[in-house]
Amino acid sequence: MRIAVIGSGYVGLVSAACFAEIGHEVISVDNDGAKVEALERGETPIHEHFLPELLKRHRGDRLRFSTSVSHAVEESEVVFITVGTPQSETGEADLSFVEAVAREIGPAIHGAKVIVEKSTVPVRTAESLCRTLLLSGAKQGTFSVASNPEFLREGTAVTDFLFPDRIVVGADDELSASLLTDIYRPLTSGAYYKREDAIPYFSYPHSQARIILTDSKSAELIKHASNAFLAMKISFVNAVANIAESVGADIEQIAAGIGSDSRIGPKFLHAGIGYGGSCFPKDVQAFHLVAKHCNYDFGLLTEVMRINSDQRRRFMKKVRTALWTLRGKRLGVLGLAFKGGTDDIRESPAIAIIEALLNEGAEVRVYDPVAMPKTKAVLPEGDIAYASDPYDAAIGCDALLIVTEWKEFADLDLERLRTLVKHPIVIDGRNLYSPQSMAAAGFIYHSIGRATGIPEDMSSVATDGEAKLRIPDPRSAQAATASV
Ligand code: UDX
Repeated sequence: MRIAVIGSGYVGLVSAACFAEIGHEVISVDNDGAKVEALERGETPIHEHFLPELLKRHRGDRLRFSTSVSHAVEESEVVFITVGTPQSETGEADLSFVEAVAREIGPAIHGAKVIVEKSTVPVRTAESLCRTLLLSGAKQGTFSVASNPEFLREGTAVTDFLFPDRIVVGADDELSASLLTDIYRPLTSGAYYKREDAIPYFSYPHSQARIILTDSKSAELIKHASNAFLAMKISFVNAVANIAESVGADIEQIAAGIGSDSRIGPKFLHAGIGYGGSCFPKDVQAFHLVAKHCNYDFGLLTEVMRINSDQRRRFMKKVRTALWTLRGKRLGVLGLAFKGGTDDIRESPAIAIIEALLNEGAEVRVYDPVAMPKTKAVLPEGDIAYASDPYDAAIGCDALLIVTEWKEFADLDLERLRTLVKHPIVIDGRNLYSPQSMAAAGFIYHSIGRATGIPEDMSSVATDGEAKLRIPDPRSAQAATASV
């Protein structure tokens, strides 16, 4: 199939590369000429596992790059729209980029085409898209509009695309249903997974990918509702963590206990400083407003958002409790990205916390494996110090904060760390360690939803209500822990 993908951000570029990978002829379009030239030179502008391999494998062959929407549309049977739908000031999804691209697509439609919205859009956007295509010159009956939302997580977008839990196609006519079904057949037939050169992904539980064929409105709602439900799971476990913390229970054990119910599932039950990123915050807010426009007060989502923003406030309270005043204190901060595995700092809780620390006069020294270059644009050297590794960030610090769940932060050399810090205080917003193991390593260890870990020889520093740990480390008993 000949496919155009309009917009080469992390959804568009990954989709274009994966469509080429499963055998289609693809033109990836972007209005940023410099980005298109970089892609043609062989550069990979985003940090995604396997993406460089796929671009190298297909560039100049099945995968070409262009700045011309009309040329790509004329050359293709199916056109995917993957431009950004950022949050507007009012909180709604800003669809101006989608509309602008539709106005370019319309005049270029001369034969049967399917125009597919893959960006996350509010329900009924397909109707607006159809109207705009007609108004911009497309002839009635020469095109269909469909919805095919993406479920790509940053950092694992390529494997999320090629090894999906499900593919959702929202088609309102036979043409778009059949063309989109054809496009994904290498995955739904399982043929791709039998290829020698398939991307390695050994934990895929299916031999064939599942496709859910529905109408465009239902597909649009599936996307918003999926992200809202995942965000709700995170806020729910954070709310329970706050209760657990007040009684000295252990949220990691509670999450393992509730997550082992097959109706709940263990994923997205990791308590922490809350969700961030370019999707959850914007999609939850947008969905809440979609409901409002449908005259439904989605109060549950209001609470999901409130709990999420409250987690950052609660974390700052922990820092103050541990350090008393912050002015002039040196804080080592591990993490900048909104989650481990990506360089994306959009809506990152880590950035929000660093800004709050600076506002209170603290001196901040940060390290992140990949997100420092992007952060320097918003927090220049001088405002904060950028370290060369986690240990460099910890040197002489009054406390060390962990705010992004990078795997490398979960297996630090604690003995070495102990020699570097000024005071042995760790405040972990991602629960990468157990209070028992940190106390045993000589650290006062604050985390989310668990009692504070306090070394035996420092028990006098425990403040009222901080349960001292007497129980053995449940993790050493190989207790199941919730996986992300
Ligand atoms: C999300 C959705 O998962 C994906 O399906 C959608 O297409 C885009 O939005 P992404 O934003 O890349 O993907 O990241 P995700 O892995 O979902 O994590 C989102 C945020 O939740 C991160 O800040 C992460 O730290 C946080 N999180 C995740 C938790 O706090 N606890 C968890 O258990 C899981």
